Formats: sequence, C-alpha cells, structure tokens
Amino acid sequence: METSAIILAAGAGKRMKSKTNKVLHNLCGKPMVEHVIDACRSVGISRFYVVIGNDAEQVKAHLGDGYTYVLQKEQLGTGHAALQVSPYYQHEPSVFVLCGDTPLITGATLQRMQQVHKEADADVTVLTAVLPNPGDYGRILRDDNGQVCGLVEAKDATPEQLAIKEINTGFYCFRAEKLFEALSRLTNDNAQGEYYLTDVIASLYQRGCRIASCLLEDSREALGINDRVRLAEAEGIMRQRIRQQLMLAGATFLQPESCLVDAEVTVGPDTIIYPGVILEGKTTIGRDCVIGPNTHLVDCQVGDGVSIEHSVARQSTIGDNCTIGPYAYLRPQTALAAGVKVGDFVELKNSQIGAGSKIPHLSYVGDATIGAGVNVGAGTIFVNYDGRQKHRTLVEDGAFIGCNSNLVAPVQIGKNAYVAAGSTVTKDVPADALAVARSRQENKEGWVARRRQKE
Ligand code: UD1
Ligand code: CA
Repeated sequence: METSAIILAAGAGKRMKSKTNKVLHNLCGKPMVEHVIDACRSVGISRFYVVIGNDAEQVKAHLGDGYTYVLQKEQLGTGHAALQVSPYYQHEPSVFVLCGDTPLITGATLQRMQQVHKEADADVTVLTAVLPNPGDYGRILRDDNGQVCGLVEAKDATPEQLAIKEINTGFYCFRAEKLFEALSRLTNDNAQGEYYLTDVIASLYQRGCRIASCLLEDSREALGINDRVRLAEAEGIMRQRIRQQLMLAGATFLQPESCLVDAEVTVGPDTIIYPGVILEGKTTIGRDCVIGPNTHLVDCQVGDGVSIEHSVARQSTIGDNCTIGPYAYLRPQTALAAGVKVGDFVELKNSQIGAGSKIPHLSYVGDATIGAGVNVGAGTIFVNYDGRQKHRTLVEDGAFIGCNSNLVAPVQIGKNAYVAAGSTVTKDVPADALAVARSRQENKEGWVARRRQKE
C-alpha cells in the first residue's frame, strides 16, 4: 500500500450545538465523514487512521471495523491530533491528512493532488482554494518565488495577511516521515494556544523541504462544516451535484431543485422525475419510469417502466411495469412482481403480490401472499391482527375478491376462487369455489308504500 489517510474527527464541534458528533451529521443520506472516506476509497486508499476524541464510541459504532482508531484525549489542536497517530502508523510512504468536516471533497481532486505530489517529488502538497470572502479559513503564504512557505490562521494573521484570498482547505498529502518529524517539533505559541497542523508547512519550508500546492478548480469543495448554516449550504451543493450526475447518466428531472436525492441512489436512463420527489437511502430505480409528482421512496428497488405518483414506499421491491398510486403507501417488506397495479388509498405491508395482480382502490393488505392475476376489489381489508398476534393470508393465482370483503387471517383463498362482495371470510375457500359470507338479502315488497299510508 502506497498511500494511507489520517482523518481528523476529534474536535468538539461546539458550534453545531448538538448531542451528535459533528462528523456524524447526515449529509445526503450519509454521515459527513463517510463522504471524505468514500472520496479516499475512490482513489484506492484503504488504510485509514481516524482520530477521535469526543464521543469516540459514537464514531466507532457508526463507522465499524476496518479503521485504525486513534484516541486524542484532549483537543489540543489539529497538529496534536495528527501526532497521536504516530505510534500506530504502519509504513505507507505517503499519507493524506484530511478534516472529517469537509465532505464536499471529491476523488478527482485527491487524484489531482496525488499527481502534483508525485510530479513535484514533494514532501508535502497543500490543497488551496481562492475565495472572494476567505473569512475564518487559514491563509496561504508564498515566498518571492511564489512557493508556499507557510500557513497562517485567521486569528493570528496581520491585516495584510487577512487580505490574502488563497486559503488552506485543510487537505494535505505528505511524505509520511517528514510529517511525523515536523509534528514532533510543533509548539503551541499562537493566538489559540493550540498545536496547529498548519505550522508544519513553515517548519518544513525552513528545512529546505519541497512544498507543492494544488489549487481547487471548484472552491466549493473546500467548504468546512462548522455550524448548521454551513451544513445546509453543503447539503444544497451536494444535492445539486447528485442530480447533475443522474441527469448526465440519462434521467430527466422536470424541476431538479424541488427533488431531494441521496448520494447512493441510482436512476436508469429515460426515467422522468416529476417535481417534489424524495429518493432516500439505497433506492434504485430502473429505466423508462415515471416517478412523481410528490413521491417519497426510502430504500426501495424499482424495476423498469414503473410509474408511481403521489405515493410513499419504504423498503419495498417494485417489479417492472407496475403502476402505483396516486396516494398509495407501501410499508417495509412489500414485494410486487411485474405488472402489478396498486391504486389510490391502498396500504400494503409485509406482503408479496404476484405478477399482474390488481389492488386498485381503498384496501389494506397486511401480511399476505397474493398469487398472479388476482383481483382485489375496492375496500378489501386483510384482517391480519387479532389484538395479540399477526397472521398471514394466502390468496392463490387467479382468485377474485369482491368489493368490501374482510379476509380474517389466518385464511387461504384457493386458485381461481371467488369471494362474493361484502363477505367476511373466516374459513379457507377451496380452489374454484365461490364463498358467500354475508346474510342473504330480503326484499319486503310494498313496505315503503305501506309506511307512507300510515303517516
Ligand atoms: C482548519 C485549519 C485552517 C483551514 C480549515 C479548513 C488548523 C489549525 N486550521 O481550521 O487553516 O483553513 O481547517 O476547513 O488546522 N480536530 C481534531 N482535534 C483537535 C482539533 C480539531 O481532531 O484538537 C479536527 C476536527 O474534528 C475537524 C478538523 O480537525 O474535523 C479541523 O478542525 P477545526 O477546529 O474545524 O479547524 P478550523 O478552525 O476549521
Ligand atoms: Ca473546520
């Protein structure tokens, strides 16, 4: 392994005013630190040293195994944080040092940094950006030859230095031995009394090391999240990026800015997304679909040629050419085979529906297995709960359930059987049978006329 990454995530994150560690705040469906890690993975980095302090357990629980966690007991600054890695460091010759609170960084940028680093045979390569209002970011200092010679924090800067528009993004690529050497020499003689990682640059410069720099093409990648205003800003930028990628891959968005799409969602070509669509988690959508308006899908797998309008679905699988809604609600563990129709005001839960079956209006289908070619009439209720336990209903292929029926589980409706409208079915119905489970109609001839005479 050539290159590893140190991720700084031990800061208190006080400005977030949150019980959750800053780097675990969600951005487009993932904790922000995971976006940084994903960018690293996309350039082939697989060894990570994650420096944690506050809420160490929270961070570990989220990220899981596969990382070297390094505890920074006291938050004495970014340089002190990086130094804690030293005893655990393996032998990778070069190392990225990255902030866990800068999630918009892309793999393409890391790759460019690596390239510059290599070509310049540098001891450190600093990623910089030019911002019209550089605010509280550290400033880049250059010598008379234009070479980076140091970084100065805004709080320590002179008015002339504050006027510099080129800033430190907090991303560096180091020759590892130079990094740890320089870290061990750091002092905390500055405005904040902290051990600044940024001071390593001047220290290396003074010792005649090679310092390269790489300027961000899109300065928005430098956005560091210190509070929730910046979090919302990053969310907006990343959402736009995600939609653009999907559009370039062939999806149409009729009003892109009205749709929220998480980072891991995929959408096939020629699918049209109407306004007000929210696609979350690990949702995948096939080609030639029409999604929305106003549809919310969470962790769903949607096939090709599906149309869904004004509906909500969670953890459900929707086969090719299904039509859903308006106003349908698919709850977890619902699976629709190809060509199923789920119409208006229909709720499904933990149910499998066979190919071509129709549940067009006003039904509740819970804990059911329904075969292929079944018609479930308007207002049918699958009575799955007896107050203590849930029970299953099985409806075999080709059955026809008349309108406004109750199927009281556990119960089975056989192949091609009919249930008469308005039945409350409590016993199994054999294949090809008709079940009538309601009182017979009685017509009292002339009853109305007789009553009228009495009045
Ligand atoms: C830092 C840089 C600044 C740069 C900016 C870019 C320093 C001294 N300053 O400032 O030049 O422009 O990032 O966003 O490095 N952390 C620890 N342990 C600590 C302190 C911080 O792990 O003791 C972690 C934080 O969790 C965070 C990262 O280091 O992920 C950066 O810390 P933060 O306090 O946000 O630094 P900035 O003030 O933004
Ligand atoms: Ca920061």
